[in-house]
Amino acid sequence: MELIVVADPETLAESIADRIAATIASAPATVLGVATGSSPLGVYRALARRVAGGLDVANLRAFALDEYVGISPDDPRSYAATLRTAFARPLGLSPSALHVPDGTRPDLDEACADYERAIADAGGVDIQLAGFGANGHLAFNEPGSPADSVTRVVDLAARTRSDNARFFDHPDEVPHQAITQGVGTILRARSIIAVATGSTKAEAVAAAVAGPIDAACPASFLRLHEDAVVYADPAAAALLP
Ligand code: GLP
Repeated sequence: MELIVVADPETLAESIADRIAATIASAPATVLGVATGSSPLGVYRALARRVAGGLDVANLRAFALDEYVGISPDDPRSYAATLRTAFARPLGLSPSALHVPDGTRPDLDEACADYERAIADAGGVDIQLAGFGANGHLAFNEPGSPADSVTRVVDLAARTRSDNARFFDHPDEVPHQAITQGVGTILRARSIIAVATGSTKAEAVAAAVAGPIDAACPASFLRLHEDAVVYADPAAAALLP
């Protein structure tokens, strides 16, 4: 795993967008793995500028990492809605190009299996964008998630629920469960770009990059991938040895 420390979030977003845009330019039917959270927002804005400048994304397909259980895709707090607003619309993608797990399906296990299959049927993810949870989670793979896990329903950690409470009117409204791509699903992407900015991510980045490769910090499993790169700003990299 490569670690790149970039001086500021704007340069970081531009560098990642350059990498993604170069892949799309050489392979227009690229499958991009997209993440929610604040970390990738600058990358989406930078990609939208490249599309406005002529980058052709007509054949781009995108798969989200995760979604809350029990929140409808039409609900603005859903990851489906968040990704439509922050990613798909600014890039001008058709609604059918963005795939997000459906956390309202009556049979959630079937929804997970269908999602795993849809990724495989699309030929797998070419570039996966990811953030870090402050507790080292990757997508919604909380501490304890095994390296070979697949798309499944998970219980959210108390820390994750409190970190994500800012998107809800009341902390009690944060769902207790989510559908997430597994660590094993994520590691099957051909390349992975993980983004970490700010001091709240410093412990997770130190554990992921320099601690044991262990389910206690699922992001540490990125080191099992031969083409994974972590982009961090100086605050997120501050606790590295
Ligand atoms: C959520 C998402 C994760 C994301 C994390 C970090 O928990 N499920 O995929 O990495 O938020 O969010 P932020 O980038 O806002 O810190």
